[in-house]
Amino acid sequence: MKGIILAGGAGTRLYPLTIVTSKQLLPIYNKPMIYYPLSTLMLSHIREILIISTPEDTPRIQNLLGDGSAFGLQLSYAVQEKPEGLAQAFTIGRDFIGDEPCAMILGDNIFYGNGLGAKLSAAKRAAEKGEATVFGYYVEDPQRFGIMEVKKDGKGADNNYRVLSVEEKPKIPKSNYAIVGLYFYPKGVSDMAARVKPSARGELEITTLNDMYLQENRLNAQLLGRGFTWMDAGTVESLRKATNFVCMIEQYQGMSISAPEEIAFRYGWISAEQLAQSVKRYGKSPYGEHLKAVLEDRIII
Ligand code: DAU
Repeated sequence: MKGIILAGGAGTRLYPLTIVTSKQLLPIYNKPMIYYPLSTLMLSHIREILIISTPEDTPRIQNLLGDGSAFGLQLSYAVQEKPEGLAQAFTIGRDFIGDEPCAMILGDNIFYGNGLGAKLSAAKRAAEKGEATVFGYYVEDPQRFGIMEVKKDGKGADNNYRVLSVEEKPKIPKSNYAIVGLYFYPKGVSDMAARVKPSARGELEITTLNDMYLQENRLNAQLLGRGFTWMDAGTVESLRKATNFVCMIEQYQGMSISAPEEIAFRYGWISAEQLAQSVKRYGKSPYGEHLKAVLEDRIII
């Protein structure tokens, strides 16, 4: 299974913060924003990842993450010339995806919660069987998101819910369940995405792609209930909230969350020597100190 991080967009809602850097490189507390979606794909056991961003920001992200070997990954990069819609990720990534299932996560989406791994595994299994999965999260302002109506009694294998409808930013939402920025698709998603027509706002909408799977009866939903936190960090206020959240979690737990090198080490994708090199690279920063505690076996879970 392949993975894509879509990390483009102009980031104008964050100006002047994003005039000379990428939104996805801004800090969420003590690490760059992109470490969070990268960790989420890694928790899905995805190791071949394509990062798509703007012509200006792609080299900046590549400077930070390199070829991925420090994380036990194979990272590659592609440019999206203009932000023409989320579904475009699958046509830009056509050669990279090949004939495999593919997950996509937005570069400003943060997921946190015990049990996330099991939900990601269920989505991966469904994709391998030819079905797509979206994730729902209860929101108070459903007009701002892609929204899905799910069948309450539709829980099937792997706790999947049946989706009844999907709509992008509906004026009169049929539910409060936002479709968050993490999607799993079966093989063939690039062909499907190539058939998406631009919406009234001129974008190749991910919701249109999801609706195609729904029409073919191939769309599952996993709901992220109590105990899960999802955030996008695309505005000044949501960036502040995300930072406060991560700071609070890390201070209560006394340890870092979403550290890609730690995940790679625990999964056996990098050696102790490689982790030691990263500890050196991060120096005396709190993030470096955390990796050092992992390396010295002071944190075992
Ligand atoms: O965050 C979840 C929501 O993301 C979903 O509920 C919606 O269905 C989905 O359309 C999307 O809505 P937004 O209005 O938040 O999308 P936005 O245009 O802000 O783009 C989301 C991120 O993707 C943002 O970080 C910029 C980046 N992006 C966006 C587009 C349109 C790209 O990298 N390329 C693009 O072409």
